[in-house]
Amino acid sequence: MYLREHWYVAALSSELETKPLSRQILGEHVAIFRTEAGAVVAFADQCPHRGYPLSLGTVVGEQLVCGYHGFTFDCEGTCVAVPGQDRVPGRANVKTYPIVQQGLWVWIWMGESEPDFSKLPSTPWLQDAERWSAVSGVAKIDATFDLLVDNLLDLSHETFLHNGSIGTPEVASTPIDVEVDEEMNVVRVSRHMASVECPPFYSRTTGLVGKVDRWQDIEYFAPGFYLLNARIARVDDPPLEDGSDDHAFHMKILYGLTPSSDGKVIDFWALSRDFCIGDDEVDRFLEKMQSSVVQEDVDALNILQARAEEDPHAREVSIKIDKGGLSARRMLTQMRESVSFQ
Ligand code: FES
Ligand SMILES: [Fe+2]
Repeated sequence: MYLREHWYVAALSSELETKPLSRQILGEHVAIFRTEAGAVVAFADQCPHRGYPLSLGTVVGEQLVCGYHGFTFDCEGTCVAVPGQDRVPGRANVKTYPIVQQGLWVWIWMGESEPDFSKLPSTPWLQDAERWSAVSGVAKIDATFDLLVDNLLDLSHETFLHNGSIGTPEVASTPIDVEVDEEMNVVRVSRHMASVECPPFYSRTTGLVGKVDRWQDIEYFAPGFYLLNARIARVDDPPLEDGSDDHAFHMKILYGLTPSSDGKVIDFWALSRDFCIGDDEVDRFLEKMQSSVVQEDVDALNILQARAEEDPHAREVSIKIDKGGLSARRMLTQMRESVSFQ
């Protein structure tokens, strides 16, 4: 069951052009495109005439023309022209979805109700190019949404699954603190590692060598947005009392978790940093590293899903490191139950 009344990432801004993109989101086929003036538009990907996917149509100016018989729609989804007659049938309009571009990501509202803009996640790290340099990507996973949540809420797996890039022994051996904000539907998981080896992911970009203090502060805004606040600094050099922390290196690792269809989820990621701003070489290095880290997760989740399908009732044993993931599972269950009671 999908949690519809929320914002989800629908696309990377860089994926959108006048040639429409077809994407299945929360079980619905959506056609997303830019008009020639640059506006971002999302339509139900089904022409009201004979059902041909509108993503196979053509953008002409500020309109989309169906690729089968030429029904033509404006950005509000209103059919403005049909072939062979002047009168346009009143029922020929197409459903549109509220959609918002925020820097590198484009968000969609899949709810039945009016979009709640107060719930749209704030992502200044993908928008403020003066202060933050960001790279982004997307991966499709043949696994359930819940398996991806589980993966992201427990980073102890970095030590084993991402050994050699971001994983070092201390990630798994350092205990976590977990906080749950039931009112706002947020799970926070913190792991502060003191005087630990700097993994290649950070040593190659920050120039720090030897031991560092490394913090991972996760904020999971259920259901669709995950933010990992990473802080790398020289040993024993915490933020100042007034909160300023300019002497440290900060990275924001963002994930947009978007259910696609049953057993399939789309994993949007972005990596933003407050150092080496505008450095293309660092961009390319981080893009390559993060793509391979994400691919390691994708491969693991695909395998887990296949095994879960073979044996849906396999027993699980949970330990302390699972507290964040279990809290997120509980929160999602409560959110789903509260929808089904409405
Ligand atoms: S199916 Fe689109 S115009 Fe016929
Ligand atoms: Fe991972």
